Amino acid sequence: DATVTLPPSETQEVSAPLLVRAARRQQGDGLPVWFMRQAGRSLPEYKRVREGIAMLDSCARPDLVAEITLQPVRRYGVDAAIFYSDIMVPLKAAGVDLDIVPGRGPVVAEPVRDRAGLERLVPAEPGDLGFVDEAVRLLVAELGETPLIGFAGAPFTLASYLVEGGPSRDYARTKALMVGDPELWHDLCARLATMSAHFLRTQVEAGASAVQLFDSWAGSLSAADYTTFAQPHSARVLAGIATVPRIHFGVGTGELLTRMGEAGAEVVGVDWRIPLAEASRRLGPAYAVQGNLDPALLGAPWPVLAERVRDVVRSGAAAPGHVFNLGHGVPPETDPDVLGRVVDLVHEEGPTLRAE
Ligand code: CP3
Repeated sequence: DATVTLPPSETQEVSAPLLVRAARRQQGDGLPVWFMRQAGRSLPEYKRVREGIAMLDSCARPDLVAEITLQPVRRYGVDAAIFYSDIMVPLKAAGVDLDIVPGRGPVVAEPVRDRAGLERLVPAEPGDLGFVDEAVRLLVAELGETPLIGFAGAPFTLASYLVEGGPSRDYARTKALMVGDPELWHDLCARLATMSAHFLRTQVEAGASAVQLFDSWAGSLSAADYTTFAQPHSARVLAGIATVPRIHFGVGTGELLTRMGEAGAEVVGVDWRIPLAEASRRLGPAYAVQGNLDPALLGAPWPVLAERVRDVVRSGAAAPGHVFNLGHGVPPETDPDVLGRVVDLVHEEGPTLRAE
């Protein structure tokens, strides 16, 4: 048995999932692939189990969470599962009156815009995320070799929903509060950081193999404002879960990549606006990258799409680690067969393209 001659640490690295090895910049020519929002509305089997059940109610049912999380793993053979939940779940568990409105997104009944609003926001007690712990344990047992990615929302992105009261185009109220009352802003984000860290820790302690911190809307900030108002709070969330690889992602964050890495991640997620080789050049050799096929291209004719997939693989080979993904979530109207073909292409041609 050749492996007995290896020191324990190396044996561990050899047997770690491909996703974890890529995050640790030790993937060789293997190329892991998963998709943000792979569990969800594009799958008919998802629509069937969700019938008549509200999104946030489904997140509180461990049996449903496990089933929905497993669906894309079964269908596509992706290299990771992502926990079916939502960035707003810890807030809901803490008693915030909010709903996820189909086609719109999170809607908060009483937006937080002053100190009284902040005082209403009391982090959940340890037991309040028991349904998360239970779902993750169920999943890890069923997933076998496939790693589970846990996730949470970053304080800036969560604050944007709380302050605006729902999805926003320009984040005007959020930014006005941020620069107009920095003390309230920092207190709000500190509280949100505590909640997200608790949500992540629950998932990691129950067996998640990696985590992703979604700062989806951080790209709306200048680098200077990101550094002052968002990064310190995200850094606190990430510092609390350093035992597993950490992925840090936002949309339109080309100008923020190095700061997002410095917040405490091993992998920086990149949207489709800049090539992965350029993202990696900005980040330097200490970071792996994740991304970055434009999700809108999933509707293009297959030969064109396939060539774009190959471009992403080739560009990603310039980075010290690459996890193949989209540049943002799977659009709801995506044909699941197309995603299946992307996974097969990445698995079949990825190693050769990376070695070129
Ligand atoms: O990626 C996955 O498959 C795992 C599950 C997951 C969901 N939300 C399920 C979901 C994850 C990782 C999230 C994170 C999330 N939620 C983010 C960060 C990721 C990103 O897109 O940038 C954000 C910003 C949210 C908030 C949110 N929740 C939005 C904007 C929406 C879309 C609303 C809509 O209908 O257009 C949701 C709803 C949501 N979250 C759905 C799913 C499967 C669809 C709701 C449904 O099925 O009815």
